[in-house]
Amino acid sequence: MRRLVRGLTSLIALTGMVVAAVPSAGTTTGTTTGTAADQPEFPYQPTTYTEPYRGQFHFSSQGGWMNDPNGLLHHKGTYHFFYQHNPHGLGWDTMHWGHATSTDLVHWTQKPIALEPGVHPGDLWSGAGVVDAANTSGLREGAEDPLVVFSGTNGVSVFYSTDAGRTFKAYDNGRKVVTMPGTSRDPKVFRHAASKRWVMLVWSDEGGNGVNLYSSPDLLDWTFLSRYAAGWLFECPDFFALPVDGDRRGTKWVLTDASGEYVVGDFDGTTFTTDWDEPQRMDHGTNHAGGSFYAGQVFNDMPDDRVVQMAWMGGNQGATWTGNASFPAVLGLRTTGDGVRLTRQPIKELEKLRYRTSSWRGRGLTPATAAKLLRDQSLDTYEVEAEFDVRGATAERFGFKLDVRPGGDAGSEVLYDTRARTLMSAPLEPSRGRVTMRILVDRGQLEVFGNDGLASITRNVAFDPRADSRGVALHVEGGGVRLVSLRIHELAPAWGMGEPTLEHNLPGQWRVVSGSWTDVAAGKQGSAGGDAFYLSDHTGADFTYEGDVRLVDGAAAALTFRAGPRAERHYTANVDAEAGVVKLWRPGRDIATYKAPIKAGRTYHLKVVTQGRSIKVYLDDRAEPVIDAKDDQYASGRFGLNVFDGTAQFQNIRVS
Ligand code: FRU
Repeated sequence: MRRLVRGLTSLIALTGMVVAAVPSAGTTTGTTTGTAADQPEFPYQPTTYTEPYRGQFHFSSQGGWMNDPNGLLHHKGTYHFFYQHNPHGLGWDTMHWGHATSTDLVHWTQKPIALEPGVHPGDLWSGAGVVDAANTSGLREGAEDPLVVFSGTNGVSVFYSTDAGRTFKAYDNGRKVVTMPGTSRDPKVFRHAASKRWVMLVWSDEGGNGVNLYSSPDLLDWTFLSRYAAGWLFECPDFFALPVDGDRRGTKWVLTDASGEYVVGDFDGTTFTTDWDEPQRMDHGTNHAGGSFYAGQVFNDMPDDRVVQMAWMGGNQGATWTGNASFPAVLGLRTTGDGVRLTRQPIKELEKLRYRTSSWRGRGLTPATAAKLLRDQSLDTYEVEAEFDVRGATAERFGFKLDVRPGGDAGSEVLYDTRARTLMSAPLEPSRGRVTMRILVDRGQLEVFGNDGLASITRNVAFDPRADSRGVALHVEGGGVRLVSLRIHELAPAWGMGEPTLEHNLPGQWRVVSGSWTDVAAGKQGSAGGDAFYLSDHTGADFTYEGDVRLVDGAAAALTFRAGPRAERHYTANVDAEAGVVKLWRPGRDIATYKAPIKAGRTYHLKVVTQGRSIKVYLDDRAEPVIDAKDDQYASGRFGLNVFDGTAQFQNIRVS
């Protein structure tokens, strides 16, 4: 059936056949072409994220293929990372928008698919997304700010979420809000504060490569502003303002393309101008589609003034996934002898993963002393920070060999060439007589930053996964050089922290105590004959604890609180379809019930308010409690979920 739908979609695309009457332009807002709530692609095949080559601190899709980062945005403490995604195979095909979230840009949680062909209309190719906090679009439906994302080829379609990114709807059946002659794609949208308007850039090949700029008051109606044409500017444009040398008075605009080429100039709200004749490269990996650095995008709506970028690293594959993202980098502009240049540096949140650091200071290195220094190191994923003084250096080359095997062979080298003045072939002048290297080594990903991000080299490396292939060596060739300082930080894996589909605000981990619990697009689903408990590590005494519960079938679904670690003790407030009640109980005692016609398939909002012995239970939006009881058996304990004799789903679990 799904294949048929997809087949039909491509047939329509091929023949231009229209099968249903489409509402005329602009007449309907909020048309639901579908939601992603019933995706068979989710959950993905399980993984522990420990496979060889699987980035331990680089994001990859749990399963399937990924290419470009899309719709990067921050909303109320959560970073959203969408990506070009084929969940059905390891190669590029039928583009979906995959989705992951993070609260710190380091630990990512896989989420259900956000945009899917057959559910969401059009070619779901690359684009950006914004938070419409002021509801300029009028798309808000409830308490949440609309998240508005842009996709489509040869014309831009709008998709939006009114539930904080869980599901997306097509605006006006995917009507193209912008079209232009030629081949076009990859809309980038952002808020332009100075002109108080939204601005969109779309790449197109009309009369040669270039971008069209548009503006809008409401994200839906767009007016053409100008075109910036340049032969080098091919797909996935990005456009952002940065202070030069950190000075906000000297802000400049940077225009980039998919390969990471960029020019620096000015933007007056209508036109981009630059006096650069030639673009520069922000990265010196392999900068083409499928290479090691492509289609970078910066986050919108950052909670601070950083400009943070993630790009597509295409060269990595495991048994169940292909591709990953570069580690988030902060971008900057710095004045150099050659003019203003873009810098890339890993975000400071990387420090969260450091768990063991070894340091060395002040050594004059020769080839022999360098080779000895790190002889005992065996490392899996790590970060190197090194500073060398090159004044008076006689070494021709110096740096590190990575993935060193017992025989001395290395999987990769990070070397500075003192004559050519290059770091891994990327031009890099010493700065005040110093060369610094910051190196991120993951299982198949290597990122190197020279002189505080002036040189950036992003590479996919198939590091040998065997345990005896984890050496790292300092390497000096043809003379001497002074090592000012060296620190090696071992990095912990960033996976395994979050709940894929359960929206909740409890700190810490959830654990299955009994029954079986799985992730479905609607939230967390529990099943059991008898009682099933899913408990958070988080504990509390007096609180408001609430959430949405829905019985799929069976007897009762409930919120559990003040529980012991194995639910050997607990209070539980349920909706019970068998008895037709809301019930508060603890092991061995039904404390109170309230008659209510509880049905499977309907979502109930349960809320528990405790204060010492007082336990009140609220149902849906009623102002008065349906149960107002006193019990002093348990004073505090864990929060959790419970199902009795059947299957139930839980969502939006909050404690305050
Ligand atoms: C770049 C790109 C984009 C396009 C997307 C399709 O890698 O070709 O131009 O939108 O990939 O997946």
